[in-house]
Amino acid sequence: MKKPWGGRFKQSTDSLMETFSASISFDKRLYDCDIEGSIAHCKMLARCKIISTTESKKIIKGLERILRECNEGRFKFSDSLEDIHMNIENRLREIIGPVAGKLHTARSRNDQVCLDIRIFLRKETDDILSELDRLGKTLVDIAKKNIDHCIPGYTHLQRAQPVLLSHHLLAYVEMLLRDKERFLDAYKRINVMPLGSAALAGTNFPIDRKITAKLLGFPEISHNSMDAVADRDFAAEFCSSSALTMMHLSRFCEEVIIWNSSEFGFLELSDAFTTGSSIMPQKKNPDAAELIRGKSGRVFGNLVSLLTLMKGLPLAYNKDLQEDKEPLFDTAETVKVCLRVFTDMIKTAKFIPIPQKELESIGFLTATDLADYLVLKGVPFRDAHEITGKTVAYCIENKKVLADLSLPELRKISKRIDKEVFDHIAIKNSMDRKNIYGGTSKKQVLGQILRLTKKLKKKKR
Ligand code: ARG
Repeated sequence: MKKPWGGRFKQSTDSLMETFSASISFDKRLYDCDIEGSIAHCKMLARCKIISTTESKKIIKGLERILRECNEGRFKFSDSLEDIHMNIENRLREIIGPVAGKLHTARSRNDQVCLDIRIFLRKETDDILSELDRLGKTLVDIAKKNIDHCIPGYTHLQRAQPVLLSHHLLAYVEMLLRDKERFLDAYKRINVMPLGSAALAGTNFPIDRKITAKLLGFPEISHNSMDAVADRDFAAEFCSSSALTMMHLSRFCEEVIIWNSSEFGFLELSDAFTTGSSIMPQKKNPDAAELIRGKSGRVFGNLVSLLTLMKGLPLAYNKDLQEDKEPLFDTAETVKVCLRVFTDMIKTAKFIPIPQKELESIGFLTATDLADYLVLKGVPFRDAHEITGKTVAYCIENKKVLADLSLPELRKISKRIDKEVFDHIAIKNSMDRKNIYGGTSKKQVLGQILRLTKKLKKKKR
């Protein structure tokens, strides 16, 4: 097939080279962004009188027809036309004839592809922001519904202190809101219009870049043509925000997997988000959570691919940059689907309340509260820590837990202890006493539920 750049070539492209250099197999997904950009460019060319209104109308009609062909799966993509830009331009020529050749006035594929990615990333970021919101709202809902539900909080995966399940879940909402902020911030740098940079130096034609930007809803135009066609830092930022979101999701998944085990039994995943084993009939595996945890790896990898891709490139455009697309597409797809699946999985999971007796019997969750109680009684914290440590050792030796101890037993350990101690080491009171901003008391957590509900209601952008 005749190449749009074929003028100076005497020999045709080697067929292996043709397949090797083609990006159409993956960049075809940019067709709608590419057409949107081309229509705006064409309107601008007409308004600046670089092409006539009749020509512009003809071109736009042709582009709209191509959009329909693509949407309906009727468009025939061809490897020999390399990429989405040349595939569309070639088809335009088939439909409207030689006037199609005017569309590429004052433009290069270098600024065109950059525009396409920016339009693509704006849409993907919007979708991800909505998904982050949906997950945040779902978690706040679960937190509200299970407000009295207590679990052991862990450090080093060792039972540490009692916390409200809601407090634990809202910790993830905080992370998700920061993720949202990162995507929103990266959005500002994605939202810059590069067209007019042409190949690298700008263009000779008296175009009006602001018109194109306005037509496409970009609040800003790029300020340096070389930077505009060469850099992909905005794409790396998208990948880095995505990597952090996946890290958070993966971490949460790890907990879901542990909590769903028979050993923990804090929650039960619904049948809809688990799968069976082909050999062990009793199994119900948390595959959704495992897959999300697993998929975080490719998203981290995509970020590294992109950074590595860019680190040695002389200005301005180099064909290496064609390799930016697959990691970007994969990142966007993966993050979106993982957020969707995670939200539905957690929404349908059943959180199993842990009876008070069981919480008391599983360890020494309120040992710190005993120490704090001694401090109230005038014992310096370090001594109180020591005394409580001895109490725990005494319990272990005698196969008891804190709640089993009688007042005489406790008074043997320290004379300062009196009967109010039981109030202090009760699980619920332990949490209620953490009534400090950011703490796990019910009052504080209810306050956070209100705050987060308001924050999640705010318009996304
Ligand atoms: N397919 C190319 C890419 O993805 C488009 C830009 C090609 N420009 C060029 N001068 N070869 O980067």
